Amino acid sequence: MCGIIGYLGERAAAPIIMESLKRLEYRGYDSAGVAIYNEDADKTSVVKSAAKVDTLVDRLTEDMPAGRLGIGHTRWATHGRPTVINAHPHTDCTNRIMVIHNGIIENFAELKRGLQSRGHVFVSETDTEVVPHLIEEHFKGDLVAAVRESLVQVRGAYAMAIFSQHDPDLLIGARLNAPLVVGIGEKEWFIASDITAIIPYTKKVLLLGEGEMVSISSLGPEVSTLDGSAVKPRIIEVKWDISQAQKGGYPHFMAKEINEGAQAVSNALRGRLTEEGVVAFEEFGLTDRQLLKVRDIKMVAAGTSFYAALLGKYIIEDLARIPVEVEPASEFRYRQPIIDRDTLVVGVSQSGETADTLAAIREARRREARVISITNVVGSSMALESDGVIYLHAGPEIGVASTKTFIAHVVCLYLLGIRLAAVRHRLPPERLRELAADLKRLPDAVHTVLERAETLQAMARKYARYQNFMYIGRGINYPVALEGALKLKEISYLHAEGYAAGELKHGPIALLDKSFPVFAIATAGATTEKIVSNIQEALARDAPVVALVSQGDPVLDEMTSDRIEVPAVAEFLSPIPNVVALQLFAYFVASERGCDVDQPRNLAKSVTVE
Ligand code: G6P
Repeated sequence: MCGIIGYLGERAAAPIIMESLKRLEYRGYDSAGVAIYNEDADKTSVVKSAAKVDTLVDRLTEDMPAGRLGIGHTRWATHGRPTVINAHPHTDCTNRIMVIHNGIIENFAELKRGLQSRGHVFVSETDTEVVPHLIEEHFKGDLVAAVRESLVQVRGAYAMAIFSQHDPDLLIGARLNAPLVVGIGEKEWFIASDITAIIPYTKKVLLLGEGEMVSISSLGPEVSTLDGSAVKPRIIEVKWDISQAQKGGYPHFMAKEINEGAQAVSNALRGRLTEEGVVAFEEFGLTDRQLLKVRDIKMVAAGTSFYAALLGKYIIEDLARIPVEVEPASEFRYRQPIIDRDTLVVGVSQSGETADTLAAIREARRREARVISITNVVGSSMALESDGVIYLHAGPEIGVASTKTFIAHVVCLYLLGIRLAAVRHRLPPERLRELAADLKRLPDAVHTVLERAETLQAMARKYARYQNFMYIGRGINYPVALEGALKLKEISYLHAEGYAAGELKHGPIALLDKSFPVFAIATAGATTEKIVSNIQEALARDAPVVALVSQGDPVLDEMTSDRIEVPAVAEFLSPIPNVVALQLFAYFVASERGCDVDQPRNLAKSVTVE
C-alpha cells in the first residue's frame, strides 16, 4: 500500500526522503514522487516517476532540490493507472499546496464535480487530487484550519502529509482508517506510514490516533482532533534497531527473515512461559475472570495471518476445548456475525493495520465482544483499539510475504491456548510441563531445518519448472499446507493449491498427472498412514511427489517420491519446523525463476484499503 514520508528540520530534506522512500518500498507500490520546498527561492520542486524509487533517486541525484521541508510518496494505484500524472504529490490550481495520501476518498467524485463547477482544474484521475483543491478553497490565511475544514468534507480512509508555500514552516499530517506515525528527532520531525521508514533517524515516535491531525512547526508537533480539540501526544520509544531493517548480508529480506525463524520463536516465548507451563502476557488486558467467561472464540485475519489463525483453531480447541471459528476479516464484518460479550474475538495481523481486520475488530467491539489482537507492530491501530494485545516481538518484517511473523503468531497462539486452558484447569501439570519443554525446544528444531537449506534449494531447482502444485496436509498440518501453497503463489506466481489431504480424492485428484506435483506434509503423527495412502494415490496418477517427513522415519522408503527430512517433534508443534521448510522451498523456487521475492507484483505488505 502507499507509503508516506514527510520531513521538516534543519537538514536537507531530499536525501532523507529518498532514503525513507527506499525503506517504504516493501509496502508495495507502482510509482513514486517527491515535493521539496526551497525557502530561498520560495519554490517547490516536484519530481515523479512511474517506475521504481531508484529511477526517482537517479533523477534527483543529478539535480538534488535544496530545502528543509519535503514530502515523498510511493503509490499503490487504486483510482487511476500508475502513471506519472497520477503519482503523488498532488497539488491545487496554484501549485502551492502539496498533498500525499494513502487510502481512498470515497466521495471524491461528488467533491470533484463541485470543485470543477467552481472553476478548479484537475489533471489526474486520482481521488487524492480533490484534497489540495479543497484546501485551496478553504484557505483564508490559516493552513491548519483549511486542512481541517477540508478533511471534514472527506469520507473514506486517509493518511496524509501536507505542506503549503503559504506557510512553509508547517508540515501537517492527518489520519483516519490508515496508519501514520510522527518521528521526533533533534530539531527535526518526520511523518511516516510506519516506523521502518524513519528508524535510522529516531526511535521516539508519536502515535497519532484515529481522526487526529498533527501540525509540526519548528516549535514541535501539536496534535488535535479534526474538530480542533487539543490531544495529549502519546509518545513511545521504539525498541527495534536499524540493523533489523537491513538485509544483513542476505540477498533478500525474505531470506533473512526466514533465517530469523528460530529467533522469532524465542522472542515470542521470552518471559512468557515458565517451566511449569504458566503463561503470562505483559499487555494482555484480560483478567482470568474475564477469560473464564469466554464461551466461544472468533478469529479474524487476512492472508498468511488467516492461516496462522486457522492453526490457532486447532491449538485452542485441543488445549482449552473452547469452540473457535476462523473467518477472513473481509467476510466477517459484512455478515452479521453471532457474537456477544461472552465471545472473545482475536484479531491476528502482523501489521495491525490491515483495513479488513481492523474493521472486523471494530465491528466486534461494537457488538460488545471482548477483543484482543496479536500483532507485531507496537502502537498499531489494532493494538490501540483492542481490549488487550499480544505482541509478536519479531522485529520488523520487510519482505512482503510473511515468514517469521507467521511463526511468531503461531507461537503466541500456543501460549494463548495454554493460558485459556489453565484458567479452565483443563491440562494436568505434567502436560503443561511437557508443553513448555517442547515449546522451548522449538528454536533448535527450526535451526535444524534452516541448516537443510541446500537440500531444499536443490529440490526447488528440480521443481521450479512446473506450473502447478498441490500442497496436502492433515490435521494440524492442514493449515500449513494452505500456507505453503500461498507462499509459493505469492512470490513465484505459480499456481498452487492447498488441500486437506483426505479431500484430494473428492475432486482435485482429477487435476493430477505428471505435470502436476504434489507437496505432501507427511511428518510423523496420528494420520501419517492416511497421508501415505494419499501419496500413493497421487503417485498412481503419475504426479511427482515431494514429501516432508520426520527425520529417520522410514515411512516413505518404498515409494518413488522425493523426501525432505525435518527434525521429529511432537505432532502438535510440528507446524513450526514444517512451515520453515515450506518457506525455504517457496523462496528457492521463486529465486530460481528470477522473481522479485521481496516485492512480488500486485501485492502490498499491509493492505490499508478494503
Ligand atoms: C497482505 C500481504 C499478506 C499478508 C496480509 C495480512 O495481503 O500481502 O502477505 O499476510 O496482507 O497482513 P497482516 O499485516 O494483517 O498480517
